[in-house]
Amino acid sequence: MEQAHTNNTAHSSFFRREYIYKGFERFWHWTQALLIVFLMITGFEIHGSFSLLGYEEAVLFHDIAAWALIILIIFTIFWHFATGEWKQYIPSAKFLKEQFKYYISGIFKGAPHPTKKTSYNKFNPLQRLTYLGLKLFIMPAQIITGILYMFYMYPKSIVQIGGLELVAVTHTLLAFMLITFLIVHLYLLTTNEHPSESVKAMITGWEEIEVEQEQLHKEHMRDAIDKSAAGYYRLDKNGIFIDVNKSWLSMYKYEKNEDIIGKHFSVSRSGEHVEILNSLIKRALNGEHIKGTKVQRQCADGSVGFHTLSMNPTYDEKNEIVGAEGFILDITNEKNT
Ligand code: HEM
Repeated sequence: MEQAHTNNTAHSSFFRREYIYKGFERFWHWTQALLIVFLMITGFEIHGSFSLLGYEEAVLFHDIAAWALIILIIFTIFWHFATGEWKQYIPSAKFLKEQFKYYISGIFKGAPHPTKKTSYNKFNPLQRLTYLGLKLFIMPAQIITGILYMFYMYPKSIVQIGGLELVAVTHTLLAFMLITFLIVHLYLLTTNEHPSESVKAMITGWEEIEVEQEQLHKEHMRDAIDKSAAGYYRLDKNGIFIDVNKSWLSMYKYEKNEDIIGKHFSVSRSGEHVEILNSLIKRALNGEHIKGTKVQRQCADGSVGFHTLSMNPTYDEKNEIVGAEGFILDITNEKNT
């Protein structure tokens, strides 16, 4: 995901290149955009708004582009479900109000964007809602009225019962809605800090993403923990494992995280050593910082090992203690010699 590294900016945030849009997604976006613009032009020529290709040609090209769009949409639906990307469109109430307020007032005062883009969360809540509306209502309705329009010429079609007028008016109305969407879509693009970067991202897939220093720090810490030779563990208030690193797993002879996450700390000790660890945890939950205590562990395969252990309380945003974490260093060999 992460490619080049960081370059500093004034507000203790950094820019980092991230892969946001996948190949098919970019192909689909630009092909759909071209087809819709082309359908708009030929459609409004059919409507009689202007004369460019001639009525007969406009109808022919409108039909061809319409089928191309339908095929593209079928493939895109499959792609969204096969890759799980459909989840990007689930409407989220979180930040919706902030995003809305940003567009109606904050944006004019130079306020910061209320939400951040990531490859996992590439749309802001307002985008989610408008794209979902487009995909679930406007495009399907446009396709349905378009197909009804196409088959009007066949005798006894349902359109003839309902009347072509209704189909034509609805199709044209939806065309205006699509034009509105396109204008808003392009306007919102210009409100990005670097609009040309956003366009480039939709072409290359990569975008410069702003990362807060704090977020970066957390990621670096996580990285250091993952690569550390020391074992790392984190427990919640009830003594349940909520995080361990690779070194911890190997010292305890577990294969994968899932084998230990969610379990009580007592599985990592035997006999009186359960009580020793229990009292250490109690002290940490009371705010004490425990350094370098030698302890005995019970490994997954039933064998025992020795390590030194540090334990510190962990805090939530309100500065309340919510658990304990620390590092362990293996001393089994020292003990055995
Ligand atoms: C896959 C989707 C679509 C299908 C199947 C479709 C089909 C059709 C058909 C069959 C006609 C009538 C042509 C005739 O008079 O023989 C038509 C007209 C039209 N289409 Fe589409 N179309 C689609 C998408 C679009 C899109 C995306 C737009 C614009 C954004 C659009 C705008 C129009 C307009 C403005 C007319 C003229 C309506 C009128 O005044 O009667 N269409 N379309």
